Amino acid sequence: MKKFVVGNFKMNTTPTQFGSYLDEFLPRIRESKTNIIFCLPATHFHIANQRLSTTNIKFGAQNISSEESGAYTGEISSVMVKDCGAFCTLVGHSETRRHFKETAESINQKIIRALAVNLKVILCVGETKYERSTKKTKLSLKRQLDIALKGLYENELKNIIIAYEPIWAIGTGKTPNVKEVESAITDIKSIISDSFSIRDYDKITILYGGSINENNFTQFVKIKGVSGLLVGGACLNPKSFANICK
Ligand code: 13P
Repeated sequence: MKKFVVGNFKMNTTPTQFGSYLDEFLPRIRESKTNIIFCLPATHFHIANQRLSTTNIKFGAQNISSEESGAYTGEISSVMVKDCGAFCTLVGHSETRRHFKETAESINQKIIRALAVNLKVILCVGETKYERSTKKTKLSLKRQLDIALKGLYENELKNIIIAYEPIWAIGTGKTPNVKEVESAITDIKSIISDSFSIRDYDKITILYGGSINENNFTQFVKIKGVSGLLVGGACLNPKSFANICK
């Protein structure tokens, strides 16, 4: 299966700068054999729609509202994102959990809203430094996954990609070692397959994210069970991100 490389722009670049970014990025990845997705600020969607529709690169949102529509000033709904041409949305990123006080229940609601309009979901989960040091990584992942996926049907899992992003590895330059990622991937697969009685582990798509860069990414994509990468800071440089995608 083709690997995924997802670039999360976070709150970086203006739409104009994103246009210039694509001028540099697109010619470099003509031969790419990966599934490339940009998770963008909504202000960039029209440019992504214009410039990416003739490529096989997809784009998505970084968050959506847990509500369907109505008096929620500042929010963007799943149907709005879908109507702009987006393929997916991130849900439950540690930054939206922390800064916007996202609860586990609202993450579950966002997933249900996204799937209802045929938006794929990239669900981010990960442990804190404290949880890892007290050997509570699996417990933390289980708590996040159980509530986020509550009420879903097994056949909806094919529309959900899990991104394993240890919180302590995001933007810090620190990464888990290969064994730690392998063990988290095994934990995620067993938690999900226990809840959904899935026998075929390999149906679950899991990405690794956290301080990925041009120099360290190969060791992570080679890990068994890792279907690709979720890249933050390093995706903002078109040359570096193109090298990772290639
Ligand atoms: P960094 O790659 O900057 O650590 O960010 C990872 C991330 O949060 C992607 O969603």
